[in-house]
Amino acid sequence: MTLPPAAVSAAAPPAPPRRRRRRRLVIALVTIPLAVIVLLVGAAGIWFATNAVRATPPPAGTLDFSAPLAVPPLAPSRVEHGVRVFELTPQEGSSSFVTGGETPTLGYDGAYLGPTLVAQRGETVRVDVTNGLSDPTTVHWHGMHLPAAMDGGPYSPIAPGATWHPEWTIDQPAATLWYHPHLHERTREQVDAGLAGMFLVRDEEESALPLPREYGVDDFPVIVQDRSFHSDGSFAGGLGMQFDGVLGDTILVNGTVAPYLEVGTERVRLRLLNGSSARMYDLAFADGRPFDLIATDGGLLEEPVRATDIPLSPGERAEIVVAMSPGERVVLRSEAPDPALHAGSAAFDVMELRAAASLTPSPEVPTRLANLPAADDADAATERTFVMSGHSINDREMDLGRADVVATVGTSEVWTVRNGNPLPHSFHVHDTQFRILSVDGAPPPPRLAGFKDTIALEGEREYRLLVRFEDYADPTTPYMYHCHLLWHEDQGMMGQFLVVEPGQRPDLKRPEGDTDDRHDH
Ligand code: C2O
Ligand code: CU
Ligand code: CU
Repeated sequence: MTLPPAAVSAAAPPAPPRRRRRRRLVIALVTIPLAVIVLLVGAAGIWFATNAVRATPPPAGTLDFSAPLAVPPLAPSRVEHGVRVFELTPQEGSSSFVTGGETPTLGYDGAYLGPTLVAQRGETVRVDVTNGLSDPTTVHWHGMHLPAAMDGGPYSPIAPGATWHPEWTIDQPAATLWYHPHLHERTREQVDAGLAGMFLVRDEEESALPLPREYGVDDFPVIVQDRSFHSDGSFAGGLGMQFDGVLGDTILVNGTVAPYLEVGTERVRLRLLNGSSARMYDLAFADGRPFDLIATDGGLLEEPVRATDIPLSPGERAEIVVAMSPGERVVLRSEAPDPALHAGSAAFDVMELRAAASLTPSPEVPTRLANLPAADDADAATERTFVMSGHSINDREMDLGRADVVATVGTSEVWTVRNGNPLPHSFHVHDTQFRILSVDGAPPPPRLAGFKDTIALEGEREYRLLVRFEDYADPTTPYMYHCHLLWHEDQGMMGQFLVVEPGQRPDLKRPEGDTDDRHDH
């Protein structure tokens, strides 16, 4: 603050009474603006707190589970010249979530969310995406290892009415991946309106294990989102806008409010996806029963991790297998994940599992699931540091005109990611599945020991990641890394990386039709 001129002349020696009057004037000139600032900050604090409370789901134990869980249909496909071809049409629709009225929503091939794509490792797939929206959109294959030009980030906008034909060969272990729009600065808006779906990769190793895998029978997608509604039924997008973005007071699972799932087998596999734009969950069963965590973002863990809860930040996935007894009911809920992030948040209900009176037997979960390569940083080509703070990474905001990182194909790097804020962020890297080497210098907990593409960054902590750039060199089209709190991402908490051949010069191109001018300042 610049002091008013009076403060300067007050140092001169005028007559004592005048001096006192001057001093009073100086004090007033300094304290009144200060008081106004304090009042404004206080008011903003109350506004934030009030909104946080409004955006809190009802406490655990109060939901009546009245609707059967919607299970997204499997996406149809055909094989053309050896290529498995899917079609996806983002479109407008309306959905019945609340009694106040229909909610205008977006979905792929339907009103809300999208079908589940399934492909086998080794298959070449193509997805013909026809944009049925009145706005541009993109489709990003989150967790997929593929060429940057097929990645569906801000470099691949699809104009209304246009069709985009990404094609790539599935070359990664069986995993629960997902897809969603990634339009420059408009990701949150389109994802929150309903554009998201799952993409399951299968492979021989996973298929050989005695695990539940019959889709919609003993293997279910569980896409967890939080939304708020206006009284007319429309989504209340701006409510609860806090540091971390939008928090909703209503939990949707696969687009169903307060769902129950009828279970007919002794064990059921749940593919949990935090599809929310900002909310962190800590999913657990209300009776505290343990379950087996078998896979994380990039696929199977080496062995199941016996756990009673699984924290998930936006974009993260976890596959769990839970045992049920005939006739019982148990609620899957979220424990209060982080009081610092979600003020006033307590445990809240997500969905109820209802076991049939007699259950089909399921085999026991195998004690060994996969062989993962050792997470060894000995031959890392380079080390980089990413400090996540406010809405920027290393004090820089997303710039389509700048390649923040240029990596060499066929190498691994150590990325040290530090959350510079007391509140959580997350970190997601396109194209690759990384390993966590350490959290604040200590080995990661078993649940974080497998392949990951997104991790929650707890406040003020440091995570060392081993990131591998296996193939697909392209000096022109970048991949993204970013905070997956979608509001942060849209605000510019994102960077771009190129993967090039050894010695190749980066030659970053700009996305078609890009009108962003932020790189100019
Ligand atoms: Cu699911 Cu770049 O994100
Ligand atoms: Cu992604
Ligand atoms: Cu963030």
